[in-house]
Amino acid sequence: MRKNLILSMVLLLLVLLVVSCGKKGEKSEMAVEEAPAAEAAVMPAADAGELWTYITETKSYQEWSYWPGYEGFQPGNSPHGKILQVFLSANGVKNIADEAKSSMDNGVIVVKENYMPDTTLAAITVMYKVEGFNPEVGDWFWAKYDVDGTVAASGTPAGCIGCHGGKASNDYLFTGSVGHAEMGDEEEEHEQNEDEE
Ligand code: HEC
Repeated sequence: MRKNLILSMVLLLLVLLVVSCGKKGEKSEMAVEEAPAAEAAVMPAADAGELWTYITETKSYQEWSYWPGYEGFQPGNSPHGKILQVFLSANGVKNIADEAKSSMDNGVIVVKENYMPDTTLAAITVMYKVEGFNPEVGDWFWAKYDVDGTVAASGTPAGCIGCHGGKASNDYLFTGSVGHAEMGDEEEEHEQNEDEE
């Protein structure tokens, strides 16, 4: 009798152990599956409205870094404001410090605030790299907004692409170089740009 009791208790313990281990296994598998999907869902589509919500609410650009080396107010050129500030998403900051890079990764966002000479904010222009959106010209989604988020231009405006096309070798970007390989040349071009003002 006693032997039977001990045996059944041991059995019961074994069963409990197996059940609880099984549950733990299930849980950790679920966590692994959910994590990447949740992250991907956060990025906006190539859509001016979604992009505005992302840069002003989801991940407010005002909390990003400035484009390294161009902190705070900068002199701007036509057609942009006379004064501007350029903000860069964290993945972009990583890209420009990476010597092996000559273009930005998908998901990188550049936000530029364009100010009037009296420092009133006048417009916000954005470049957002979206895989497969427009591969011939760097896959950038372009957008220009009024200060309240009203869309002034978006998608593939010929004006934006035409002018930024002069910087195709630097992934269509004027402000600084992507990667460090071409730093010397790009810096010279940027200085010339400022002289034209
Ligand atoms: C006539 C040329 C020209 C046109 C047109 C133009 N840009 Fe630019 N853009 C520049 C220059 C030059 C800069 C560097 C900052 C400066 O000097 O104003 C710049 C900078 C930017 C930046 C900061 C990243 C970078 O390349 O340095 C963004 C974002 C941007 N422009 C978006 C736009 C969008 C969106 C449009 C169209 C609605 C547009 N631009 C049209 C010349 C142009």
